[in-house]
Amino acid sequence: MMSRWGLAGVLISAALVLAACGDEPSEGSPPASVAPVGEAPATAPPTAAPDPAPPVTPVAETTPAIPPPDPASIADAAPPVVEPAMDRTAQIAPGVAAPADDLLARIRAVDPATGEALAVQCGICHTFAADGPTRLGPNLYDIVAAPIARDSTFTYSAAMIGLAATGGTWTFDLLDAFLANPAAAVPGTRMGFGGIEDAAERVAILAYLRSLSEDPEPLGGPREEGRTAAIAAGLAPIVFTEEQVAAGRDFSTRFCARCHGTNYRGTTDMREYGEAPGIVGPLFEARWFGRPVGDLLTLLATDTREDYHGGLTPERYANVIAYLAERNGLVAGDVPLPVDGAALAGMGFYQ
Ligand code: HEC
Ligand code: HEC
Repeated sequence: MMSRWGLAGVLISAALVLAACGDEPSEGSPPASVAPVGEAPATAPPTAAPDPAPPVTPVAETTPAIPPPDPASIADAAPPVVEPAMDRTAQIAPGVAAPADDLLARIRAVDPATGEALAVQCGICHTFAADGPTRLGPNLYDIVAAPIARDSTFTYSAAMIGLAATGGTWTFDLLDAFLANPAAAVPGTRMGFGGIEDAAERVAILAYLRSLSEDPEPLGGPREEGRTAAIAAGLAPIVFTEEQVAAGRDFSTRFCARCHGTNYRGTTDMREYGEAPGIVGPLFEARWFGRPVGDLLTLLATDTREDYHGGLTPERYANVIAYLAERNGLVAGDVPLPVDGAALAGMGFYQ
């Protein structure tokens, strides 16, 4: 039995290591030869009209290349979707953990309501509401990360009490193992339940159990790690307005979606261009949250390939970045995203 918990610990550590790799600041950095774009006069007010000496080179607008709207991009207005990892993650961003391999990431990606429906099968024996009564089993409100056998009024099995004596808590991994096969995970348990074979169903139940809390257990992941890293690096939270988002949406729908795919989920089947990665969702979070917003501007603005990313005006870059920020879950406010690269170099993707 102990080796099982030992294994769970190893798995957790491995997951943390993988997640930490995903946050590697140098991951995906533009080549060193890329010219910096943060050369706008630092005195330029954020909302300044286009500077006669524009900071980004080249600045020639190449919009004539815009094709007619791609029918696939009609669904563009849909909200960002948390998606499972794309199998090309490793090629695009080596070292970024594929979220589907990680229990926390799988919990992040599932709707707790799915788990609520599945948890009906627990309801004969358990209640889920705060202060709900005991049935055949103890109440399960806020059980994630709670001490094992925490209810002093409930008569647990000797097996469960023995496990509790080691000071253990209901980690996600332990709950997952217990729900998969209670009798194997805690030999001698009184929980007369065969277990749930389907890993996806267990994950949904874990998401539901987690949601039953005033203060749900953190799920980690690039977004939270990125926020921590951005704050540690002294980056200010990104700001942008709804007007910038609207302008960026309009442009991106016509221009960017044809390569980056419906809902910007990425494309693998582009005859002309090869693969374009997803730029909304977990991959974007893994690559850009935690890094200066200016890094993204550098990647886009110094792309010299025709019709890809380069050659737009600074205003347009700001609009497109505002739009990407919004599509990746950040919220517009009153202050516009600055148009100059130096200011963007001091901001991170968090709020
Ligand atoms: C047939 C009744 C029954 C069903 C069905 C059942 N349980 Fe249990 N459950 C119990 C009993 C009894 C215990 C106490 C086990 C022990 O003491 O060994 C328990 C214990 C638990 C615990 C530990 C609680 C604590 O206080 O440490 C968790 C977590 C749990 N069950 C989750 C679930 C979930 C989730 C489901 C549905 C997928 C479920 N159970 C289905 C009877 C049941
Ligand atoms: C002609 C096809 C094409 C167009 C149009 C295009 N992209 Fe890309 N984009 C790519 C490809 C291919 C990559 C993969 C990396 C590379 O080759 O630079 C990429 C990479 C990116 C990345 C980095 C992704 C990452 O996390 O590594 C971002 C962000 C991005 N594009 C945003 C945009 C935006 C915003 C637009 C519209 C202004 C746009 N792209 C238009 C093809 C395109």
